Amino acid sequence: MKVRTFLILLILLGLLILGFVFYYYRSKSEIKRQMSNPNSAQNEILLPQPQRKGEVSLEEALQKRRSVREYKNESLTLEDIAQILWSAQGITEGTHRTVPSAGALYPIEIYLVVKKVEGVAEGVYHYNPESHKLVLNVAGDFNRSVAEIAANQEWIENSAAILLISADFQRTTEKYGERGKQYVWMEAGHSAQNVYLQTISLGLGTVSVGAFSDHSVQKILNLPENIQPLVIMPIGKK
Ligand SMILES: Cc1cc2nc3c(=O)[nH]c(=O)nc-3n(C[C@H](O)[C@H](O)[C@H](O)COP(=O)(O)O)c2cc1C
Repeated sequence: MKVRTFLILLILLGLLILGFVFYYYRSKSEIKRQMSNPNSAQNEILLPQPQRKGEVSLEEALQKRRSVREYKNESLTLEDIAQILWSAQGITEGTHRTVPSAGALYPIEIYLVVKKVEGVAEGVYHYNPESHKLVLNVAGDFNRSVAEIAANQEWIENSAAILLISADFQRTTEKYGERGKQYVWMEAGHSAQNVYLQTISLGLGTVSVGAFSDHSVQKILNLPENIQPLVIMPIGKK
């Protein structure tokens, strides 16, 4: 290899490394800034990168999967919710996600109602899988009102956060017609099971809640008109 080519490659490699270092420290300092000012609701919250390896095996998580309805009065960490949101709909490789999707159309949208999460103010947030960020939808404490429209199930009110699996059905029915509705429900199931297993591996608990009024959830959480709520999953420490 000529010396000139070698030098050019060396410079390119150096720039690549610098880019990674810059991105890493910028993400870290953004998360640090968020954590130092937890009380004012921020429009966007950059989440810590999810772990790709864990201590609990898949078989163990499957064996231990149960619906948990009693939670400690303790906060979740930002790492906990970042991991759970990633399990529900996060990006794994390219545009692929932790859940399968008919035609790779990804109609599922994840919302998080935050009550007690370290460094995050109370409010309803939307999860953006591409940027791995939470985006504020509406600020405030919504645990009680969500419990009320879900047959007063107290575990919803007592949870540290409530994950909502919702969907834009049109994204899938446009291509697949009526059959597309079934696909969206299947995708919601894939997502919910991931959340169950992920909470087990983090030592947390959740339960799939189906008894609620769609219309009221949509209204209270200020969801866009095209978004239909499908599954409510309160989350807390066991
Ligand atoms: C579609 C669906 C809807 C459910 N709705 C509720 C609900 O509204 N409230 C609740 O406490 N549990 C709900 N569950 C949880 C079931 O009660 C629970 O899975 C069942 O009792 C079996 O217990 P296990 O999950 O611990 O194995 C629901 C589960 C599914 C799959």
